[in-house]
Amino acid sequence: MNLRFTEEQEMMRKMVRDFAQTEIAPFVEKMEEGEFPREILRKMGELGLMGIPVPEEYGGSEMDFISYIIAIHEISKVSATVGVILSVHTSVGTNPILYFGTEEQKKKYVPKLAAGEYLGAFCLTEPSAGSDAASLKTRAVKKDGHYVLNGSKVFITNGGEADVYIVFASTNPEAGPKGVSAFIVEKDTPGFIVGKDEHKMGLYGSRTVQLTFEDMKVPEENLLGQEGEGFKIAMSNLDSGRIGIAAQALGIAEAALEAATAYAKERVQFGKPIAAQQGVGFKLADMATSVEAAKLLIYRAAQLRSEGQKCGIEASMAKLFTSRTAVEVATEAIQVFGGYGYTKEYPVERYFRDAKVTEIYEGTSEIQKIVISKQL
Ligand code: CAA
Repeated sequence: MNLRFTEEQEMMRKMVRDFAQTEIAPFVEKMEEGEFPREILRKMGELGLMGIPVPEEYGGSEMDFISYIIAIHEISKVSATVGVILSVHTSVGTNPILYFGTEEQKKKYVPKLAAGEYLGAFCLTEPSAGSDAASLKTRAVKKDGHYVLNGSKVFITNGGEADVYIVFASTNPEAGPKGVSAFIVEKDTPGFIVGKDEHKMGLYGSRTVQLTFEDMKVPEENLLGQEGEGFKIAMSNLDSGRIGIAAQALGIAEAALEAATAYAKERVQFGKPIAAQQGVGFKLADMATSVEAAKLLIYRAAQLRSEGQKCGIEASMAKLFTSRTAVEVATEAIQVFGGYGYTKEYPVERYFRDAKVTEIYEGTSEIQKIVISKQL
């Protein structure tokens, strides 16, 4: 196994790092006030960052999956908000069309998504179907060249801001997971209603909304894949999506580690920097070791995905371990900062708030354990 990044991958890291420092960092405060980073996404589109793994044929950058993960990792070190917007847009907003769409669907939607002209979203979760995703209640009934959708979705990342939504609905409720179908839905479809914007613990600049579909007529040609194939489409795209969320968590953990290390070197107590005192030094050593282990799990899963191999178990392990690491490292970073860490003057409280949701979305840690244990 080659543990070195290629020259192309290192160039991607440098380009994204520079972009994050010059374009994203100055906007973090605005995002903390709740502003959606529309202009940043436009610039990311110009740089090819909204379609990194998309083939050139469909307007993308046609880079490997590892380069895409590098981008989420580096962006999330500066802003986990922009990190999750990019991950959802690409992994579960664009890829389902790329992998399961007809040629017409791909030509119609993917180039605009890859250019950042359109933003993508993924609508699986419902008020009574979270971890048990197959129990969703949204119905799709075929009638006169359309599917008529009724139901509601919750916690939809990019909801309201996105232009294209991958919506999961049941075309055959008796069939359970095998009755779920996927649809490509455009935002301005009559009956598509954007509801409550959630007030979250973190990721203030990202949108998380409720959606309601009231007799929403979706053209028959917007069925994605075959009827009944929807659950497979959701699950297989979540496999790679979970590597993206793990990379987001890694960015947060690394940022927290770097902030805590820098502070511990300059903060003097009892006559020497606190980094030189064993209680703090050992803490930093544990944090750094966990971050390194997380990195290896993530890039191993990303390598398998890049090679087109199955990566479900590796993706779940990477997400399970890295999200836990992000929460633990951010918590310890606050401890290193002491009272200052509990204030908004330093970024570590933001890392702590942003880290928590990585243990929840795209499958909770408990769901990752189900996926892993089922395959053992
Ligand atoms: N790839 C392809 N097919 C898969 C699959 C995968 N990874 N996982 C399951 N399937 C298929 C199975 O093969 C099975 O078909 P067969 O019977 O033909 O073999 C079918 O799907 C049903 O599978 P299960 O019996 O395993 O289904 P289940 O109901 O027990 O559910 C689960 C499995 C893993 C618990 C699943 O429900 C799950 O992942 N739940 C969590 C949901 C989730 O992650 N939601 C995230 C929402 S999106 C989000 O959060 C985005 C955001 O905003 C950031």
